[in-house]
Amino acid sequence: PLVTTKEMFEKAYNGGYAIGAFNVNNMEIVQGITEAAGELRAPLILQVSKGARNYANHTYLMKLVEAAIIETDLPICLHLDHGDSFELCKSCIDGGFTSVMIDASSKPFEENIAITKQVVEYAHDKGVVVEAELGTLAGVEDEVNVSAEDSSYTKPEEVQEFVDRTGCDSLAIAIGTSHGAYKFKPGTKPQLRFDVLEECMKKLPGFPIVLHGSSSVPQDFVAKVNKYGGDMPGAIGVPEEQLRKAAQLAVCKINIDSDLRLAMTASIREHMALHPGDFDPRQYLKPARQAIKDMVAHKIVDVLGCDGK
Ligand code: G3H
Ligand code: 13P
Ligand code: ZN
Ligand code: NA
Repeated sequence: PLVTTKEMFEKAYNGGYAIGAFNVNNMEIVQGITEAAGELRAPLILQVSKGARNYANHTYLMKLVEAAIIETDLPICLHLDHGDSFELCKSCIDGGFTSVMIDASSKPFEENIAITKQVVEYAHDKGVVVEAELGTLAGVEDEVNVSAEDSSYTKPEEVQEFVDRTGCDSLAIAIGTSHGAYKFKPGTKPQLRFDVLEECMKKLPGFPIVLHGSSSVPQDFVAKVNKYGGDMPGAIGVPEEQLRKAAQLAVCKINIDSDLRLAMTASIREHMALHPGDFDPRQYLKPARQAIKDMVAHKIVDVLGCDGK
């Protein structure tokens, strides 16, 4: 069935693991992710950004996810990623999503509280849960550009008041992750701020924390892209062992999009290079879908720890 994250997060918090939240925008991506989660019996969040919804259309995405639930018999949460307005959140809630994110993290504290509270009131009335964000991630968040200097870690002294006053169900925090495939300067040592996470946990005992920007940008996939005509110099992500550690703590939802893009693109580039005569899209989309499935299975088993949960 289509579910909220309520029970998923309770079990993840107490069990010391995290649920994967994977971005979707077409059939092969939905199939790759849900086949992996189905075989591993892993609870799952599929998330749709504003851009993805504009690309694929709300109804197509709804129906793809409904099909995946029928095929896998898994509990799946369908979540709006980085909702930037009350109207967008409302539209997804009215259209059947079971979870929405209102991302007003770039706004001043009081404004963030006001808009988050407005979304929470509407959502809870319809049985939908809400993720909010405090702190600013470096990098590109959908259409909002945040330069590295502007990036600021979540202030632990603000989280309790924010959650109390908004009534949000989970909170995304900034501890050094960022969106995209270029998360750290090459040559520097990627390090998440576990001290900030632990301070937030003390202020919010039992409360589910979300990590955005959590792709690891595996170097063998970057190498494959570059080998077959791509150009991704210096692409670098969050080390998987740091995500494993976060999953054992209060982090209950880990967002991954770039690693799926990388898996799909590496596969298609390789296929195109090795089979220049192929022109039936199934010839390259079938291995691309398999590459997504393999990547998601790896995340579930080796990073999130949510298989069989
Ligand atoms: O956080 C952003 C997600 O990776 C979605 O990206 O806005 O390009 O669909 P998008
Ligand atoms: P990545 O770009 O690290 O995959 O992050 C995705 C994300 O946070 C979606 O909200
Ligand atoms: Zn994000
Ligand atoms: Na956890």
